[in-house]
Amino acid sequence: MIRTMQPMMLAGLALLLAIHLVVGRAGSPSEELLHSCVYHANTNITSTDMEPPKFVVSSQDCCDLCSVTNGCAAAVFSDYYCHLKRSDSNQVATQGSVVVVPATTTTTTTSSTTTTTTSAAPTTTTAAPTAPPGPPMGLIRQVTCSQSSACNPYSDGTCNTNVFYNNTCFVNNLYSCDASVSMITWNSYADLGCEGNDDATSFTAGQCMMNQTTNLYSGYYCDVVPTPVANIPVTRTKCPEGCATGGDCSTAHFITGQCIATDQLQGLWTIAWCFPNYVVYNSFSYPNCTGLMTFSTAEPVGSECFPSANQAGYTQNICGP
Ligand SMILES: *[C@@H]1O[C@H](CO)[C@@H](O)[C@H](O)[C@H]1NC(C)=O
Ligand SMILES: *[C@@H]1O[C@H](CO)[C@@H](O)[C@H](O)[C@H]1NC(C)=O
Ligand SMILES: *[C@@H]1O[C@H](CO)[C@@H](O)[C@H](O)[C@H]1NC(C)=O
Ligand SMILES: *[C@@H]1O[C@H](CO)[C@@H](O)[C@H](O)[C@H]1NC(C)=O
Repeated sequence: MIRTMQPMMLAGLALLLAIHLVVGRAGSPSEELLHSCVYHANTNITSTDMEPPKFVVSSQDCCDLCSVTNGCAAAVFSDYYCHLKRSDSNQVATQGSVVVVPATTTTTTTSSTTTTTTSAAPTTTTAAPTAPPGPPMGLIRQVTCSQSSACNPYSDGTCNTNVFYNNTCFVNNLYSCDASVSMITWNSYADLGCEGNDDATSFTAGQCMMNQTTNLYSGYYCDVVPTPVANIPVTRTKCPEGCATGGDCSTAHFITGQCIATDQLQGLWTIAWCFPNYVVYNSFSYPNCTGLMTFSTAEPVGSECFPSANQAGYTQNICGP
């Protein structure tokens, strides 16, 4: 029974996969440029998906995914999943989902396409600097610490944070929080993909409590946050003793929404996203962040130098240039 497959176990699994894959690791990731799309809010496409839907955090990601997938003519972004379609027809009005149609630019080789084509009005759909603002999203953090009774990762290097996205299946777990942000429900399913029988547990949101079974402090937090924006630089610095000690520090650079190869986090390939109070790192074991996400964590953002998880020195995350 994998009914109680825990995020911590998953993290371990991801690590094993990562170790296994380290041999075949590519030198540098392919830099994915932002693509431009036309977005139709509150619209769905009823034709079947080209392939299983993929988790993405914004409609811009869905645009990027469709743009780089052969045969994709349009996509539907709904509940953080991107459904790829072979055609943009069969559109119907549906509250909450967004139809994403890649802008019909000739697949640029190297030159900057200064379009002097015959077509009518010059389209304003060239490379939007930021993703169109999506709906606010619900983000659930599960924080576990052995020392901080406030589940505060700023002061305690024993804290681990797992991130889940509201109402989004992760392996065989589905976390959701109610609209009033007071209660979090964890549904653990018998089968992968959140199929089969489920077992529900509820937690009061925002409370750090000692778990008598594990003797660890544990809290569940539900944050309603703006859909993050792609293309923001993120710098993650790790140092053995405090963040201003230069010498032995190592720095990793990310760009939000882009799949970057790294050895700083679990999994070999990571996508960073900046939220108001933390950076979320989504890790994948396969190149180009293909396949299922294996691990997702939130870390403090800003000048704050915080003790790294697993007491491995100190970390600092900076969003923006
Ligand atoms: C969009 O259409 C598909 C196919 O008919 C359907 O399975 C899906 O539930 C729809 N999405 C929404 C958000 O209604
Ligand atoms: C989480 O998703 C559920 C189901 O779609 C929704 O009812 C709820 O309002 C969402 N919670 C937040 C905080 O967005
Ligand atoms: C306490 O930990 C146990 C073992 O991991 C877990 O099954 C249980 O759900 C936890 N209880 C709470 C309230 O978090
Ligand atoms: C994934 O990245 C590798 C380089 O690391 C590249 O050769 C390959 O074409 C990429 N695959 C896809 C589907 O983008």
